[in-house]
Amino acid sequence: MKADLVIHNGKIVSPDAVIEASLAIKDGKVLAVGAPEAMPPATETFDASGLHILPGAIDVHVHFRDPGYPHKEDWESGTAAAAFGGVTTVFDMPNTIPATANGEILAAKHAIAKSKAHIDFGLYGLLGDENLATVPELLQGGIIGFKLYMGNTFGKIASPDTGATLELFEVAAQSGKRVSLHAENNDIMERRQKRLMAAGIRDQFAHLAARPAVVAVEAVSRAAILAEWTGARIHVLHISTADELRPLREAKARGVDITGETCPHYLMLSTEDYTRVPGVIAVNPPVRQKHNQEPIWQALLNGSIDMVATDHAPHTPEEKTRNDIWTVDCGFPGVETQMPLMLTEVNAGRMTISDYVRMSSYNPARIWGLYPQKGSLSVGADADIAMVDLGREHTIRDVETQSRSKISPWDGRKVKGLPVHTIVRGRFVMKDRTLVADSKGWGQSVHTIQHMPPPQVRNAEHTMQAITTQCSAGRRE
Ligand code: NCD
Ligand code: ZN
Ligand code: ZN
Repeated sequence: MKADLVIHNGKIVSPDAVIEASLAIKDGKVLAVGAPEAMPPATETFDASGLHILPGAIDVHVHFRDPGYPHKEDWESGTAAAAFGGVTTVFDMPNTIPATANGEILAAKHAIAKSKAHIDFGLYGLLGDENLATVPELLQGGIIGFKLYMGNTFGKIASPDTGATLELFEVAAQSGKRVSLHAENNDIMERRQKRLMAAGIRDQFAHLAARPAVVAVEAVSRAAILAEWTGARIHVLHISTADELRPLREAKARGVDITGETCPHYLMLSTEDYTRVPGVIAVNPPVRQKHNQEPIWQALLNGSIDMVATDHAPHTPEEKTRNDIWTVDCGFPGVETQMPLMLTEVNAGRMTISDYVRMSSYNPARIWGLYPQKGSLSVGADADIAMVDLGREHTIRDVETQSRSKISPWDGRKVKGLPVHTIVRGRFVMKDRTLVADSKGWGQSVHTIQHMPPPQVRNAEHTMQAITTQCSAGRRE
């Protein structure tokens, strides 16, 4: 059999090993991995001397803003940024306009993404109090999972109260899909923000003061209890504090299907950076005091935190640099800089490159039911590849990035380790740090390949659905 492409002389990285081998690709899939002389003949060969070959990163948390905010980002610019960042699959959040809350809106978003994406994608469906009724059509239309906003953030999607959250978890549990959580307690932070605003306090530290660690800790703990009760699978987005780790670990120890992510900004930035990049660094949850960094690193390395994601949240310079912190849009781009930032830590000896592959690709693929088609470079897997030059030094310049946002706290940061080529299902989408223009529209939704384990519903007899049917049938105990 003739391969489409054979890559020679690279070092292939898996969560367990780094091996020097050749890799053959046919019809978008890995055909063979092994000695160069064992490779089939190929239409094209590629010399990856000096490069590491990684399964492309799977970023489970991006905001590509399309439809709704084309001045911030769209599917074309967002996925171009991803391609430059060695990211081959993204999961996009539902806080677009309109929010991804019913089947029709979901279908429209699938069509937009399909027409513009350079890389593969999954779409989150909103799980909110107002759209309980549309959950079946979201499932039917093809989502990677649900997103539930326990607390308010950009887009101002209403946060369900605890009663609604329980009912939404019951419904999600039946589907077997994972629910990704913006885990911040809305009551606490809204009350504090109102007080601070009334007192005329509007500097950037007020944003941090309105969202102390307890805001996140309380939400993670409560979500874990409701997930344990219902059997819902949950994922804690953007873990920012050391304090969240205890409820996360305890829930895992109890057998709750809970996973977690952190982002480079919680690992590498702290309140010490606030005055350097005022407003720009504002994000929900906030970047915190430095003492949080080491415990979060440890948790990421020992597996308590399962993965690194970016919360790529682009806004424009004008939206990020307003004087009144309460009017600054929270978040900043990250999909393009995550890999170089983390590879810099590999170079610094913080972790091995296999550790990095585990947290950036293997774990996300496993946790969302995409493994081994994604998150792996074994025979039969999708040929989604980031070829990285671990020795290459680079300075991040916001103006040079693919994202439309052009403003982040990473501007001027020196990194060592850069993705130089990105392949999605066998096709180059970024080559020699240049976008492959006709790869626009190559991206596909991954929900079609998703295989989550069967639902593990608990306390089925106590669900809202069960009690209302029982009561209407006249059965009460
Ligand atoms: C995100 C955004 O801009 O969409 N902003 C943020 O500060 N993280 C929303 C979110 O993830 O909470
Ligand atoms: Zn969030
Ligand atoms: Zn986000």
